[in-house]
Amino acid sequence: MKTLKSLLITALLISSCMFYSCTTGTPKENETEKKEEKGNVVIENILSRKSVRNYTDQKITEEQFDIMLRAAMAAPSAQNRQPWCFIIVDDRALLETMGTSEILPYSKMTGKAAAAIIVCCDKEKAGTNGESGFWVQDCSAATQNLLLAAESLGLGAVWNGLFPVTERSDYVKEVLSLPDNIIPFALVPMGYPAGEEKPKDKYNPEIIHKNGW
Ligand SMILES: Cc1cc2nc3c(=O)[nH]c(=O)nc-3n(C[C@H](O)[C@H](O)[C@H](O)COP(=O)(O)O)c2cc1C
Repeated sequence: MKTLKSLLITALLISSCMFYSCTTGTPKENETEKKEEKGNVVIENILSRKSVRNYTDQKITEEQFDIMLRAAMAAPSAQNRQPWCFIIVDDRALLETMGTSEILPYSKMTGKAAAAIIVCCDKEKAGTNGESGFWVQDCSAATQNLLLAAESLGLGAVWNGLFPVTERSDYVKEVLSLPDNIIPFALVPMGYPAGEEKPKDKYNPEIIHKNGW
């Protein structure tokens, strides 16, 4: 009886070890697998992103805004100054005002968008990067993160350039009553896509060089 009991315990131990080794690899293997898996999802999302300029009436939720803005704020920035700030616009009258303005001739889709996010630079936060111009790269990185997050949520969005066309950024600053230290950098109208835009294939191996030109 005692032998049978110990045999049973041994069999149980062996089978649970086998199950464990089938479901989990070594920590290093798991880490690599996780990275590859994650990498694929991220790369897929980057390659799927496209400018979307036609939207349905469906609203964007607070949770979606939160996800997009967290992604935007995760961008790298020179000296980690994070000189950006963001303005959510979902007021129809404001969207239409910007969408019909002659000063923003390439932003007409804003009038029909569910919302827009204005990526801005806070000159006080930019510090010396305000003069050197590095803030432009910081805000560009944030804008791209925002666009990628929108794509991942099934939303459509498009980068509309404001800065360095001062007429455009000054106009948005006035419409939204922004303080002096805030420079509107990019206008990003967004919503659920009304059409079936496809990403453009821009890959060109001819422009890749190695160890020099
Ligand atoms: C700095 C910048 C400014 C842009 N400004 C506008 C704009 O004012 N209006 C617009 O419809 N698209 C604008 N775009 C979007 C480009 O037209 C678009 O990214 C380009 O045609 C490539 O298409 P894709 O985004 O679908 O890959 C801008 C993009 C960038 C990066």
